[in-house]
Amino acid sequence: MKVSYIAIVIGLAVQSALAVPKFQPRRTSILINPDAQPDLPSPQNARLAGVTPANAGLNLNDIQGDILIGMKKKKELFFFFSINDAATFKSKLSSDIKSLITNTNQLLSVSTQPITAVNIAFSQAGLTALGVSDNLGDAGFQSGQFADAAKLGDAGTTNWVSGFAGTKIHGVFLLASDTVDNVNNELASLQSILGSSISEIHRVAGAARPGNEEGHEHFGFMDGISQPAVQGFTQNVLNGQATVAPGELLVGETGDSLQSSRPSWTTGGSFLVFRQLQQMVPEFNKYVANHALSVPGLTAQENEDLFGARLIGRWKSGAPIDLAPLRDDTDLANDNTRNNNFTFNHPEVPGFVFASNQTNCPFSAHIRKTRPRADLGSENTGHHIMRAGIPYGPEVTDAETSAQQSSTDPALERGLAFVAYQSNIAQGFEFMQEAWVNNANFIFGKTTPPGVDPIIGRAAGSAAETPRDISGTDPLTPTKKFSLDVEFVVSRGGEYFFSPPISALSGVLSA
Ligand code: HEM
Ligand SMILES: *[C@@H]1O[C@H](CO)[C@@H](O)[C@H](O)[C@H]1NC(C)=O
Ligand SMILES: *[C@@H]1O[C@H](CO)[C@@H](O)[C@H](O)[C@H]1NC(C)=O
Repeated sequence: MKVSYIAIVIGLAVQSALAVPKFQPRRTSILINPDAQPDLPSPQNARLAGVTPANAGLNLNDIQGDILIGMKKKKELFFFFSINDAATFKSKLSSDIKSLITNTNQLLSVSTQPITAVNIAFSQAGLTALGVSDNLGDAGFQSGQFADAAKLGDAGTTNWVSGFAGTKIHGVFLLASDTVDNVNNELASLQSILGSSISEIHRVAGAARPGNEEGHEHFGFMDGISQPAVQGFTQNVLNGQATVAPGELLVGETGDSLQSSRPSWTTGGSFLVFRQLQQMVPEFNKYVANHALSVPGLTAQENEDLFGARLIGRWKSGAPIDLAPLRDDTDLANDNTRNNNFTFNHPEVPGFVFASNQTNCPFSAHIRKTRPRADLGSENTGHHIMRAGIPYGPEVTDAETSAQQSSTDPALERGLAFVAYQSNIAQGFEFMQEAWVNNANFIFGKTTPPGVDPIIGRAAGSAAETPRDISGTDPLTPTKKFSLDVEFVVSRGGEYFFSPPISALSGVLSA
């Protein structure tokens, strides 16, 4: 059962007595809560988890709210800016802006959520603009994402949004709420506080998709299901969930391999990887329809859906194909105690050969390339991220559906505003994208090389991004190759940021 979002508002009378109420208790949440996704801890449980001996000391009042909650926002605006006047910016940051920043505890209960949750993060160029010369210990962050484009497999940077090309972005505001009006009002007040001390470089407006598609990304698949359980935060670890030390996501905490050398003010912060990933939805649908499988006993539609599900590793509902290999199973999908409970290995099947058997799930499936589970022997590989993205852009139009082609109208661009948090970009996002997703031979030790990840994989360094070969997708002939001659996901670039602990906003960052 989901928590009922009816807040009992004790402080209402006091609040409304104020001339300009800074904070009005809300009745509906900023967050979505699909059955398929893990629940957040209650504030009480998060506190309990934080006092278990191994991980005492996570300060959920100081850790920015977006880091640990995952892909759950209803609306979220990413506002990328440069700093023109550091002195003015700092004077506002230390008090006016700081007081608007939302911490983790506030988001866990509807009654403590602000009207619009505000988070802030800085690029290396931003820290430099503020006169902060401390070395945060992260090479990717230091040089910025533009310098990383080739390593990530972006074929050149011709598709990059001009604002991301270079190091002109100093920071980003993440504004989350349940309505676009709330978000826009909050942006207007931030802009009036900061005036001409900042300039807009770029913005991306995200929103959960409408109706039954809530929680699903634009290709139609439920997202945000498999997220790491964080010691010191998550209380009820779900079956199949990877448990990570807080320091795998949070700088300076237990489990951060560079804990002893980080500047002390960074403790509880996290590196935020932003990517604007455009999705070519009609092209994806066309490719899937054209490559429908021919598994006996399935209808034509089921064979088409199965092909799509085998690219991701889950059905659109979110049910994992490792547990539901032939047909979707919505009961399984909506039960978060079962929908992540698999390893890809099947020792219970007599004669099952792990190195060659792709009957249930291809080695190349998106969720297997990004989290190989038992393929690596041990579940905990040290390469985990907390995904906190949100879809952006409008639904596919009828004209696009009938043309089987995405419109070139910039207003119709859609995709995933991808956000990933980790304490070490080289071990988190970069490792996943470069060493796993883009490596055609990964997962290693299999009898057939899997090829790249069909959703986000790129042959790094090659000038031409297509075609990309994958195998394993046809369960009847796992060695059969599919040539992906269309880009389903086009990188429009991004940036690497540091999401500082809130205390640093009135400390080092505004000194
Ligand atoms: C437009 C681009 C993308 C789409 C459409 C997409 C879609 C999905 C979907 C549908 C799932 C399964 C649901 C879930 O477990 O949450 C998933 C899982 C995942 N994705 Fe993506 N994704 C995209 C980009 C990325 C990128 C860039 C990365 C990292 C390099 C990534 C890493 C992951 C990880 C780690 C998981 C969870 C795997 C697991 O624990 O089982 N995704 N994605
Ligand atoms: C999780 O998977 C294990 C191993 O397959 C199984 O024994 C257990 O019953 C599953 N748990 C649930 C809740 O389905
Ligand atoms: C592969 O594994 C599935 C169960 O996951 C099993 O039904 C099938 O027989 C296996 N294939 C081979 C060739 O052993």
